Amino acid sequence: MAYLQTDVTKVTTKVLQSMKMRGEKIAMITAYDYSMASLVNNTQIDVVLVGDSAANVMQGHKTTLPITLDEMIVYASSVVRALSRPLVVVDLPFGTYQGNSKLALASAIRIMKETGADAIKLEGGEEVLESINRILCAGIPVMGHLGLTPQSINKFGTYAVRATNDEEANQLIHNAKLLQEAGCFAIVLEKIPAVLAEQVSKELSVPTIGIGAGSGADGQVLVLQDMLGITQQFKPRYLRTYGSFGADITSAISQYVNDVKSGSFPNEKEQY
Ligand code: KIV
Repeated sequence: MAYLQTDVTKVTTKVLQSMKMRGEKIAMITAYDYSMASLVNNTQIDVVLVGDSAANVMQGHKTTLPITLDEMIVYASSVVRALSRPLVVVDLPFGTYQGNSKLALASAIRIMKETGADAIKLEGGEEVLESINRILCAGIPVMGHLGLTPQSINKFGTYAVRATNDEEANQLIHNAKLLQEAGCFAIVLEKIPAVLAEQVSKELSVPTIGIGAGSGADGQVLVLQDMLGITQQFKPRYLRTYGSFGADITSAISQYVNDVKSGSFPNEKEQY
């Protein structure tokens, strides 16, 4: 009698490439801790991003700038311990790769060695190309990130849609091609017009992953707490929520408080 094959087939950068060739959409989501990543691991998600959005979601900062490499490593190693099938990508945080490619390589190596992740992501185009090249030369897969790049919020001063005029759109296309030529295995396109994302996705051979970039991208990414309805007061047009777990959690905790106050918890069966 033959036994069922139970080995988990790991998603690799090659798998993502072949998904693009087949026209199969790539599903990516963020995670920052072991408990949530364990639930994510029960699904067929393709890529898990330990995003520097942890600065907002986990730490309550207004921007992603304050999070440190040490903190990203704690989040990422917790997530990696929970996952078996998805490709795990970790953001290089602000200040760990811009303007110094040797620092960039050292930061990327720390992530790979100390977390067990599969790849890193960083924001920007031409201006970070030297860092990307150096990291790739060390055999570390790099995911790019263009369009709205939250680490540059102080330069742009707004989280509005990017590349809405021809000059910025052409610049984005130019940067996307540079990242592909350098060897990035995929590129996140954040908050850009859908027609531009579709054009870039058609012109590139590597997959694009959109967030607020319409349906023409090769895949989609959302922040886990946003799509679960846990994040409060964040309702951008692109966000689809799959549940209202924030309200459920608040209600469950309120019931627990009531039960403790009324003395109904614990009951006889819940004690020794
Ligand atoms: O940090 C993050 O969560 C991200 C995604 C929004 C792509 O970069």
